[in-house]
Amino acid sequence: MFALRFERSRQDLFGMLERLYGHRPDYADFVDALTTTLKDNWRRRPEDLKWLDLQRDLEPDWFQRSDQVGYVFYIDRFNGDLQGILEPDKLAHLADLGVTYVHLMPCLKPRDGHNDGGYSVQDYREINPLYGTMDDLEHVASVLRERGISLCIDLVLNHTAKEHEWAVRARAGEQPYTDYYWIYDDDGLPNQYEETLVEIFPDQAPGNFTRYDDFGPDGDQTKWVWTTFNEHQWDLNWANPWVFLEIVDVALFLANKGASVLRLDAVAFMWKRLGTRCQSEPEVHMILHAFRAATRIAAAGVIHLEEAIVSPEEMIPYLGAGEHTAKEGNLAYHNSLMVQFWSALAAQNAQLMTHVLGTHFPPAIPNATYATYLRCHDDIGWAITDSDAAAVGLSGLAHRRFLADYYTGAFAGSPARGSLFQVNPRTGDARSNGSTASLAGLEAALEVQRTERRQYAINRAVDRILLGHALIASYGGIPLLYMGDEIAMLNDYDQLTDPATAGDGRWIQRPFMDWDRVEAARDRAGAGDEESVAARVLTGVTHILRRRKAVPEFHGDYATDVLHPPDERVFAFARPAPAATVVCLFNMSSDHLVIDGRWLREHGVSDFHDLLSDRAVALHDDELRLLPYSRIWLR
Ligand code: GLC
Repeated sequence: MFALRFERSRQDLFGMLERLYGHRPDYADFVDALTTTLKDNWRRRPEDLKWLDLQRDLEPDWFQRSDQVGYVFYIDRFNGDLQGILEPDKLAHLADLGVTYVHLMPCLKPRDGHNDGGYSVQDYREINPLYGTMDDLEHVASVLRERGISLCIDLVLNHTAKEHEWAVRARAGEQPYTDYYWIYDDDGLPNQYEETLVEIFPDQAPGNFTRYDDFGPDGDQTKWVWTTFNEHQWDLNWANPWVFLEIVDVALFLANKGASVLRLDAVAFMWKRLGTRCQSEPEVHMILHAFRAATRIAAAGVIHLEEAIVSPEEMIPYLGAGEHTAKEGNLAYHNSLMVQFWSALAAQNAQLMTHVLGTHFPPAIPNATYATYLRCHDDIGWAITDSDAAAVGLSGLAHRRFLADYYTGAFAGSPARGSLFQVNPRTGDARSNGSTASLAGLEAALEVQRTERRQYAINRAVDRILLGHALIASYGGIPLLYMGDEIAMLNDYDQLTDPATAGDGRWIQRPFMDWDRVEAARDRAGAGDEESVAARVLTGVTHILRRRKAVPEFHGDYATDVLHPPDERVFAFARPAPAATVVCLFNMSSDHLVIDGRWLREHGVSDFHDLLSDRAVALHDDELRLLPYSRIWLR
């Protein structure tokens, strides 16, 4: 099997590596070492995982099917530690939601103190001791696997913590580790790079380099280190093939512990080129192409989720484009879908959403699909270009400002509650934080004094939450539910005063799971009163996910054709599958609308049965009525 898989991917692996590293005198040694690493890890791969490899070789579209549902959480915030995941009621909750994919937020051993929510990794081969041990992870992976759930874990490729052994040895001046990072004797080159780099955390970690005065064996040398994110996160030097080798070895080690989706963190930053933003350089795609080939050889059941929060045009190549088609990421976050959802909701207009999603994204992507989501642990960057805004008659700057204002609630009439993040006075850029429910208006609704008004506002918020979930469940890709969203958890403001989290505003959308609320929601399912908001959302989300599984047209391989509905408050797309087409409609406004029956028939609708509610829809005067924030799937 190893030999066959090696031959299958030989060209993908070495074709790329030779172009990246072939000029180096140590290239032949590197190739030998890499081949040995692949073989050794294959030899160590447990039998049941080899079966999984075989199964996935035979069903290579498993992750594109409509039965996939993802769930994302921090281990401690879910239920204490790794063992806590396996409590029967916790597993039952995942099963009720139909979860087939679980992303454990960073779980490898981070540095002590601030660690960027675990993204500052000190040791890739150990588990965060607060969560348990590597044996626990292996056990959790195998229990989940038995239940048909794939385990996704983070693999941070762009940087390690400065306390990682490689960094500690580099700091002491030890070869070859000094070549594992970007280390400079003076600030000459750093300053030249800075001219074109952007700042990721302008507030909390300005600049992209950090000066240290304690380098070398005697701790008395001054050096500048590339630190794109926080000071404690040192960028790895991927121009060095031995870094590639180390990370492949780590990836396969984790794959052999049972991780079958690797979330490759911050991949856009992996290659540096003077005079550029040092994001999404062509070499990044070559590395990721080769990396995919490496895991495909020694752990064929593993797929890669690429985290590249970049502009639409820049994002698609992470799923494989040009020579990398079908060879790079199996999954990539659909950041634009998320941004456009919140933008359309605020504007009560889907024109920009239709333009961006219809123009910049190919209808279908071979051998890959999106990870769709409404919220995650990170902020929302209002990545809307001036030219896209202009295409629909908006000013980019004004619209981005509007969104940032709207989602703090400052904009008059906004029902949202959130906060600003990394306001950059120089560029006018501001990002937003907040949980799905708070951004969708639930927090504000619960504060309304007058009963009928409160009830009305709550209903609207619930509708907006379910609208979003119906969108990510049908658009194409694995919908990733963010823990707590299924019970409409609000912003957690305690995080802003807790010294451990106060420094980073993103923690307000990372609450601790409220299991009492889950239990109450289950008890109250079916009740319609105010106290049952969580029940309504839980029932609604669960229903949406069940219905998704019943619609094979939502397979990731089928196109998503963005349509131009006659009413620009509606976002719509068709999913043409061989046997039938499904047309999905989303009213992004609080208005009652109608859609012409003829327009629907022209786009292939013949059966006026809503696949989502599983009920017939009646046309009145040949018009389909759309209630505020309604969502309908028609075959
Ligand atoms: C990714 C993570 C984010 C983290 C950054 C640096 O973008 O999602 O939380 O801060 O990488 O590791």
